Amino acid sequence: MGKKDAECVAFLQWALPRLGLRWSGYRKVHAQVCKRVARRCRQLGLADIASYRDYLAQHAGEWPVLDGLCAITISRFYRDRAVFDSLAQNVLPALARSAQRREAATLAAWSIGCASGEEPYSIALAWHFVSGAAVPGMHLKILATDVDATVLERARAGCYSAGSLKGLPAAWRTQAFEARDAEFCLRDDFREGIEFRHEDMRKRLPDETFDLVLCRNLAFTYFDEAAQRAALDGISRHLRPGGALVLGTHEAPPPDRCYTPWPGLRPLGIFVFRPDLAETDRFD
Ligand SMILES: C[S@@+](CC[C@H](N)C(=O)[O-])C[C@H]1O[C@@H](n2cnc3c(N)ncnc32)[C@H](O)[C@@H]1O
Repeated sequence: MGKKDAECVAFLQWALPRLGLRWSGYRKVHAQVCKRVARRCRQLGLADIASYRDYLAQHAGEWPVLDGLCAITISRFYRDRAVFDSLAQNVLPALARSAQRREAATLAAWSIGCASGEEPYSIALAWHFVSGAAVPGMHLKILATDVDATVLERARAGCYSAGSLKGLPAAWRTQAFEARDAEFCLRDDFREGIEFRHEDMRKRLPDETFDLVLCRNLAFTYFDEAAQRAALDGISRHLRPGGALVLGTHEAPPPDRCYTPWPGLRPLGIFVFRPDLAETDRFD
């Protein structure tokens, strides 16, 4: 590790807990944050990261700026193929059938930390090409939220490099995207029913209730313990009993009896929400 990198690591180990974030989540991706912090130092005319630390001590208003620099926005379509295949083939049809049983015509999904749209659009494609046919008449509505306004702009534009689409089945790529300049843009049919909203999940949650919530590679990687607990409690208030919570494949929720692995699937970070199981506490 070079001297600059070591200084930045020490800085992040000091600063992240003050933002409710944890160093272990950033270990592998810290270089991206360090670059942004170095750029911010240059903007402020500060000589080094030690001066930035002093600057933070004197300017409380700089903390939200640093918080913004810490948002890791890497994503891609169909990130973790086995997860999206299971959602397409098992989870979405099961959720749609239970929506049908309660005579609902719409299935509601929420992608938290949707980055440039790769995750919510992957769900829309899985629904279009696989799950939707199993439940005719059912509509899928997706709310996609992110704290970063720049990635949301890209999400609304819906145009991507070839590399970001690599994980998608080839037939979906050709049917759902059209080449425009050097990019591939999602056709309008596949954008229907998707709303993008600028929201920080630590500060504001939507009013709706969802059948499916995806919170992948965000809270349960980067947030500290208390913030993870608050995130899960917030999600639980907006997830329908029997609904599904999807985390990143390397993530685990804080201990909570209400979440059990989705039955019949190998561990992929897909959980069923069973608030009735919380009641069992009383009989322990
Ligand atoms: C690493 S990306 C993951 C994207 C996608 N969920 C995936 O798994 O590919 C994390 C996303 O969460 C967003 N994010 C970070 N903190 C957030 C917060 N407090 N509220 C909402 N979104 C947040 C970031 O801006 C980023 O776009």
